[in-house]
Amino acid sequence: MKTSKLFADRHLTVAEVNPNLFGGFVEHLGRCVYTGLYEPGHPEADGNGFRKDVARLVADLNMPLTRYPGGNFVSGFDWKDSIGPKEKRPRKPDYAWDAMEPNEVGVDEFVKWCQIANTSPLYVVNLGTGTPQSAQECVEYCNFPGGSYWSDLRRANGAEKPHNIRWWGLGNEMDGPWQICHKNAEDYAKVAHDAAKMMKMVDPTIKVCANGSCNPGLPTFGEWDYTIMDRLFDVIDMLSMHIYFNGKDDDFPFFLAAAERMDHLVESAIGCCDAAAAHHQSRRKVDIAVDEWNAWSRAKSEGNQETKWQVGRSLVEETYDLSDVLVVAGAMMSMMDHADRVKMACIAQTVNVLSLIMTRPGGPAWAQTTYYPFRMMSKHGRGGIVLRSSQEGPTFEVKKIGEVPFVRSVVIHHPEKNEVVLFAINRSLDEDMELQAELGSFQLECVLEATELYHDSIDAANTEGNEMVAPASIPATRLTLQNNSLTVSLQKHSFAMVRLALKK
Ligand code: AHR
Repeated sequence: MKTSKLFADRHLTVAEVNPNLFGGFVEHLGRCVYTGLYEPGHPEADGNGFRKDVARLVADLNMPLTRYPGGNFVSGFDWKDSIGPKEKRPRKPDYAWDAMEPNEVGVDEFVKWCQIANTSPLYVVNLGTGTPQSAQECVEYCNFPGGSYWSDLRRANGAEKPHNIRWWGLGNEMDGPWQICHKNAEDYAKVAHDAAKMMKMVDPTIKVCANGSCNPGLPTFGEWDYTIMDRLFDVIDMLSMHIYFNGKDDDFPFFLAAAERMDHLVESAIGCCDAAAAHHQSRRKVDIAVDEWNAWSRAKSEGNQETKWQVGRSLVEETYDLSDVLVVAGAMMSMMDHADRVKMACIAQTVNVLSLIMTRPGGPAWAQTTYYPFRMMSKHGRGGIVLRSSQEGPTFEVKKIGEVPFVRSVVIHHPEKNEVVLFAINRSLDEDMELQAELGSFQLECVLEATELYHDSIDAANTEGNEMVAPASIPATRLTLQNNSLTVSLQKHSFAMVRLALKK
């Protein structure tokens, strides 16, 4: 069996894993909201029409934040359509996705959903057709205590206490030519700067994320990010980046190299933030939010033309298999490796659309394959200290990148629990690999848990009533512990987590 070696030490640290790395995303797109998290009349629906089975699955992921309400949708959406008595809310065409938006779920309802799903909103304002004034009014509606027109309207609509939404997004993917009212960098910077300033006049405690590049393949990549950072340096709290890992059917090695693609994305963004700081003669390090990311190779955005202008038409429903587990886990490892600057991430999306969770209208909800690495890393990665590590071992060739290691891992130290957690992927399609982790000055006591996600077929997927990929224990015979070193054999195309107790 080939061997990959990992070296790490408790004294060489990156940073603490910010809980906000485990955020989600809910867009008014396809069946994410309608027949996803919201389905009045479903046997599992609560008094507000929210599916309790879906909320339970989301709650288990422990997502501190959920980005909402879009996505491309938000660039043509007026938040004022989605408040007040439901029977009075307008039905409007959603021109981003050629669907009908009934506005049955709006900001007040979404805040209620967040409570049952154990999350909180990151609310994105419309800077496509929307204005800085409308964004300011939205903050007033949500966060102003009372005694003003918009805050009193919220109270009249049943929310006596302010929603106190802390995180706000300044538009969506405004660098993307497909975006409603797509802008060049200077035009977006102007409107985003005005919006951020006006929103913070209402509530100076809010934090805002500005749109960085939405795709590293766009010709404006890098230049856009530097310009936005430079022009918004005094008002911005985070630069948001998006990335979707494609290539499953046309360049599989590139697809599997999601961790290295994420490294490139965030390191480019950090470079732009720091270059802008230099220009501003500032030592301030602006952090990165990867607030849309996931594997996305197959699902088409157009959908069935016969369902055009329908509410909750089925769109962008990707079935994830074991290869996507490697991609999702790899991307999360990369973000953890950059935990000193990547402080927020939102996997796109949570339900039915490029999702962790699928539902059938009137039927059950189930976890896709990618649900599990996300849950394992959210539970056992958050709050720990990422250790600097280096890895030596066999590689595979990725044309657009170069040599990439088959095994990629990350080591996280939880001093308060006296525990070390190792996450690893083996991207070899046909060979098991031995991972030897040399953990410097740690003294290892015992294995607390060793879990893997594996199936003989890398194409194995979870569908309704048929869960082929789920966490399973790694037998003790595949693990060896000695003083400060752990050896674990990783099955071909698998993801593994080993939790180790440290000697007192
Ligand atoms: O998540 C699906 C879409 O992908 C979002 O609406 C958009 O922001 C991105 O391009």
